[in-house]
Amino acid sequence: MELLDGKATAEALKQDIAAKVDEIKAAGGKVPHLAAVLVGNDGGSKTYVNNKVLACERVGFDSTLIELPEETSEEELLALVEKLNNDDKIDGFIVQVPLPDHIDEDKVTQTIHPRKDVDGFHPENLGRMMLGLPTHISATPNGIVELLKRNNIETSGKHCVVVGRSNIVGTPMSILMSRNANPGNCTVTMVHSRTTNMKEICASADILIVAIGKPEFVTADMVKQGAVVIDVGTTRVPDDSRERGWRLTGDVDFDGVKDKCSYITPVPGGVGPMTIASLMQNTLNAISMK
Ligand code: GUN
Repeated sequence: MELLDGKATAEALKQDIAAKVDEIKAAGGKVPHLAAVLVGNDGGSKTYVNNKVLACERVGFDSTLIELPEETSEEELLALVEKLNNDDKIDGFIVQVPLPDHIDEDKVTQTIHPRKDVDGFHPENLGRMMLGLPTHISATPNGIVELLKRNNIETSGKHCVVVGRSNIVGTPMSILMSRNANPGNCTVTMVHSRTTNMKEICASADILIVAIGKPEFVTADMVKQGAVVIDVGTTRVPDDSRERGWRLTGDVDFDGVKDKCSYITPVPGGVGPMTIASLMQNTLNAISMK
């Protein structure tokens, strides 16, 4: 088994982005500027958003973090989104999800201007991705594609099983892996909570991508010998041995599965860093979409 080191791969991608930013600066061009909006006090979301802002610093982008209280109304948030849409200083922005229950996430996503939607969540961007047109592709699936590419993982003709059908990971992931591209050209099966023969289908995967949000859901009996396993899960599970009282756990039983697969992503240090690097890439791309 070899570790698919997302941290190292993300560093390499961020170095490439930083070099482009240096070129932009040298030519007197506009430095990319990402804004991140965080509503409420969810600890996990705070960490993710802070990491996104830190990554901006690392690659030389400008960044703005906007933190709003839990009680922020939908109307107030939509007004902020409109303001960011019309702010020429901001090239791209994200609104971290999940949002508090009283705010309609779809409404917020659909109000973000597609050109500034560096998360790739807007219906126009998802539609363009489906058609293979240039667009912002959601950071997690795009990061996984980049991870496979930079580590020379062969995907053509392989059976790829995607576990989970979320709008931000499973659904776009299944489309990206099936398209006529490299990485891509897989035969894709998507499985989800209502799939009856989950174990058999997963065990037939050459490439198994798991984004179901259930800690250690995939066990060794669900993995084919020699499979490539990509674990998107990041659940905080209680752990008294850690000072902070929790640890991040993936959707795959890493210790049980690791000796069976050819490659596996660790949690943390696998998909997470690639998601952030991929968001930086989308923000860089946004400046030439004007
Ligand atoms: N919550 C979990 N992943 C993401 C992401 O990629 N973007 C945003 N905006 N929120 C998230």
